[in-house]
Amino acid sequence: MAQVTGSTDPAPPWALLAELTHACPLHCPYCSNPLELARRASELSGGEWADVLRQAAELGVVHTHLSGGEPLLRPDLEQIVAAAEAAGIYTQLVTSGTGLDEARLAALTTAGLRSVQLSVQHADPRANDRIAGRRSSFAAKERAAALVRRAGLPLGLNVVLHRDNLDAVDALIDLGVDWGVDRIELANTQFYGWGLLNRTALLPTRDQLARARETVERRREQLAGRIDLVWVVPDYFDGVAKPCMGGWGAVSLTVAPDGTVLPCPAAASLPDLQPPNVRDHPLAWIWERSPAFNRFRGTEWMTGPCHGCPRQEEDFGGCRCQAFALTGDAARTDPACALSPDHHLVRELADGGRPEAPPYVYRRPGAVPAGGGFPGPNSGENLPTCSQ
Ligand code: SF4
Ligand code: FES
Repeated sequence: MAQVTGSTDPAPPWALLAELTHACPLHCPYCSNPLELARRASELSGGEWADVLRQAAELGVVHTHLSGGEPLLRPDLEQIVAAAEAAGIYTQLVTSGTGLDEARLAALTTAGLRSVQLSVQHADPRANDRIAGRRSSFAAKERAAALVRRAGLPLGLNVVLHRDNLDAVDALIDLGVDWGVDRIELANTQFYGWGLLNRTALLPTRDQLARARETVERRREQLAGRIDLVWVVPDYFDGVAKPCMGGWGAVSLTVAPDGTVLPCPAAASLPDLQPPNVRDHPLAWIWERSPAFNRFRGTEWMTGPCHGCPRQEEDFGGCRCQAFALTGDAARTDPACALSPDHHLVRELADGGRPEAPPYVYRRPGAVPAGGGFPGPNSGENLPTCSQ
C-alpha cells in the first residue's frame, strides 16, 4: 500500500479512472455517478485525454480503467487507448457491452487494449434488462463476452449486488463460468449519487446477504485457480468502515468527463471541495499540491473516534463521501463504523423491515414504463449512468 508522508510529499498514484463520458445507454438504478452529469459538449477531447494520460504516466500511473458512462460511445476511444499504450499504461475497458462489435473490438485491440470488464445486472435475461432499463442489453453482453474471449483478451464480469439480484449470486457465478471469464467482481451496492435515491428499493436483508456470502465462499473453493471471485463488502451491515479508495489521494485518481480531477468518483458531491481541472493545472500539481487532494490525506484531519483509533491506518476513517451523504459533514467518522456516533443511521436501515420495494427511480422518468416497455437507443446526451 502506498504511503502518504504528508501533504507536501505524497507517494505517486498507480491507477487512473478515466471517466470518458457520463453518457450511457443503460439506466441502472444503483448508478453512483453524480446527479448532475457532465454534458457531452464539455467532455475532454481525444487530444486532451492523450495529454492527461502522458502526464499520468510521468506521475507514476501504470493502469487505467476506461470507464463512464459507456466509453464505447466515444468515437475516438481507439485514439485514447493508443495514447495510453504509447505512454506505457495498461488499459482496461469497463463497458456495458452495448455497441461492441467485432470490428470495434479489433480496432481497440490493435490500438493496445489489454483487458475488458463487462457489467451484468442479473443472470436472467429479462431481469437483467429490467434492472438495466434497456431491452436486449443482456443479449449485447452475451455477444460482447464471446467476442472478447475470441479475441483472447482477459475478461472480468462486474456485478453490482442489491435486493433484486442477491438471491441469484449462484446463477451469476454460473454465468461467468459459461462465458469463460477470468474474474467476477461481486460488489454490494454503495449508496452514492443516483444509487442513494434508490436506496429503499435496493437495500437487501441480512438473510439475503448471509446466503450470498455463503454461496461465494463455497464457489470460491470450487473455482480456486480458475476464476478469481471478489466480494466487495456491504458496509452498512458489518459495522466496519471500508478503506475507501485505499485512502484519500493515496493510490489513485479519477478524471471526470469534463477534466475535473477527483480523489474518488463520488467526490464531486462534496460541496466545499473545489476540485481542480486538468484544463487549468498540471496533473502533478493536482496530485501533489492541490487543496482538494490534500484535504483528507493522512490522519491529521480526523475527528471523533477516528482520532487516535488503532485502525486509522487500515481503513482511513472510512468513506468521506458516505460521511457527507449521511451526516452532511465529510470530516466525520463514516457512519458505517460501529464506533461512529452516527452509526444508528445505517444500523436502523440494515436491521429495519423490508416492506415491498418501491419501483426504481430511473434517470429519465418513464425509462421503464409499468407496462413493460423499454426505451430505445439514445444519443447518450441526456441519459448517462455508469457502466458497472
Ligand atoms: Fe476506522 Fe474511524 Fe472506525 Fe477507527 S473509528 S475503526 S479509524 S472508521
Ligand atoms: Fe469518495 Fe469513498 S466514495 S471517499
